[in-house]
Amino acid sequence: MSLREVARRIKETVNIVDVISEYVALKRSGRNYLGLCPFHADRKPSFVVNEEKQIFRCFGCGVGGDVIGFYMKFHNLDFVEAVRELARRFDIPFDLDEGDRVSASRQKALFEVNEKAQRFFVQMLWASRAGEEARAYLQKRGLSAETAKIFGLGFAPNSYDSLASHLKLAGIDLSLAEEAGLLVRREDGSFYDRFRHRLIFPIYDLSGRVVGFGGRILGSGEPKYLNTPETAIYHKGALLYGLFHTRDFIRSAGFGLVVEGYLDLLSLYEAGIKEVVASLGTALTAQHVRQMKGLSQEWYLVFDADEAGLKAAMRAAPIFLNEGLFPRVIILPQDEDPDSFVRQHGARAFLDLKEKALEIFDFLLEILRTRHPPTPEGKLAVFRELEPALMALKDPVLLDLEVKKIAERLGISETAIKRSLAQRKPHPRPEALHRSSPAYLERVILEFVVHYPRFIKDFEEIGLGEIFQEGVHRRLYEALKTVGEQISVEDLTFDDLELQALLSEILLSPPPFEDVPPERVAAEIKGWWLKKRYQQRLEELLEAIRKAEASGQMEEALRLLREYQELRCQI
Ligand code: CTP
Ligand code: MN
Repeated sequence: MSLREVARRIKETVNIVDVISEYVALKRSGRNYLGLCPFHADRKPSFVVNEEKQIFRCFGCGVGGDVIGFYMKFHNLDFVEAVRELARRFDIPFDLDEGDRVSASRQKALFEVNEKAQRFFVQMLWASRAGEEARAYLQKRGLSAETAKIFGLGFAPNSYDSLASHLKLAGIDLSLAEEAGLLVRREDGSFYDRFRHRLIFPIYDLSGRVVGFGGRILGSGEPKYLNTPETAIYHKGALLYGLFHTRDFIRSAGFGLVVEGYLDLLSLYEAGIKEVVASLGTALTAQHVRQMKGLSQEWYLVFDADEAGLKAAMRAAPIFLNEGLFPRVIILPQDEDPDSFVRQHGARAFLDLKEKALEIFDFLLEILRTRHPPTPEGKLAVFRELEPALMALKDPVLLDLEVKKIAERLGISETAIKRSLAQRKPHPRPEALHRSSPAYLERVILEFVVHYPRFIKDFEEIGLGEIFQEGVHRRLYEALKTVGEQISVEDLTFDDLELQALLSEILLSPPPFEDVPPERVAAEIKGWWLKKRYQQRLEELLEAIRKAEASGQMEEALRLLREYQELRCQI
């Protein structure tokens, strides 16, 4: 049997309510069961089990999934282990096909090779002569041995084959180390170390397993940082640096800080500010924010006051607001990052900045107003830039407060703002879809296909699947393609808890455009996509025409122009 088949048998046989009742006191409430969430300090029952759909979800901390997901999360098991355990308990045969045995053991092997590399790097840092340089670097950066050891820092020597030969001696298949992103294959088939002459930051998942590495060059040189590429166990869009070590501090302090760099996080930690996570040199994703939300409601983004900082804040704002979090922004003085600031001015001064942090809308308003003139056009530009964040704000009371504030500061009437937002808000009319942001559209279309998987075939025919870029969305969409007569959406299960939570969240909420027939919604979505594709094609043609003209290929230019005109007519 394939692992997926065993998982499906489990889901057919086992009632989630029975299993969860063993660990959580559940009370029936309408169509659901309610209880106190076992995954966070729950005061009022926010934990819902839906018997009909066989899923659970906590409305407090956002965890969710099916019976296998519950088992994974509750007993801290990986997917295969949870399936094996449930199969054993409910007498379901568990003899996996060759293929699945291999991929399950392959994943395990990747963790093991990372573990071996990690131990090697640590040894190189503390117990080798070459490590002296890195130890001195740590000291120069103000990091104690204690902090470095907590976070498992290591050192990759200045050599092309120190890790490679170490692993080889340990009997490791080097192509496995390549798959883990540790080694790179040469054309002749031999391997060399990816990380050389670098301080190494292991990256842990929430079970404390090393899934990848970051490496900073000692001294100056390019690139400054090098990271593990995406592997079967390393997904940077879902990982936050430091979280495994800092989540308890965040939970008990009731707030968390988000910084951008490894050393920013470590310096703050060193200074006693331990409620921190760092993004891994990438933009924050909804997956990141969902993990944060499970720990605390109060988050502070630490950005520079420069253009890059503003851009990062503008991008992050709708993601946080969409998840129901209302972040604040800590602004650092020009040319400082959290590391340099806390080392120069101390923890007290940093916490003072935190007290002065601006609410996200105040921050955006303030900065945007300095970037546009106080003319009607300028005000309109500020408003348009604020709109994505405003549209992501779901709580009507907060929205009202923000609208009041913005109206006052920009000198626009509240009614005008509300009218403009209402025009843009796609709910509940699908015709407005084309005016929404791509991230919002991606989510709405995903929700739609979860509730109405029968439309996927139509969507696939016109290549609409392309829009799903973000990791979990893409994977959920791919899985939905397998849904048909044999398999229903409720049969799907995932080895990834993030994905389980997403699916149960969508299944427990109403479909988008609930009161519009799904055929019409599907038609709107298809129309939007085709139009977008045509527009892309038109732009490509224009570009090609320009090129042809510039290089004097007049016949070609004419031919393209005719194509362009035909296409325009079609639209
Ligand atoms: N980063 C990266 N690749 C790069 C540069 C940066 O992945 N080439 C990521 C790293 O996670 C880094 C973060 O972006 O920690 C912030 O980069 P930057 O501000 O340039 O570096 P610092 O963290 O300030 O590092 P340092 O203080 O050592 O210069
Ligand atoms: Mn820095």
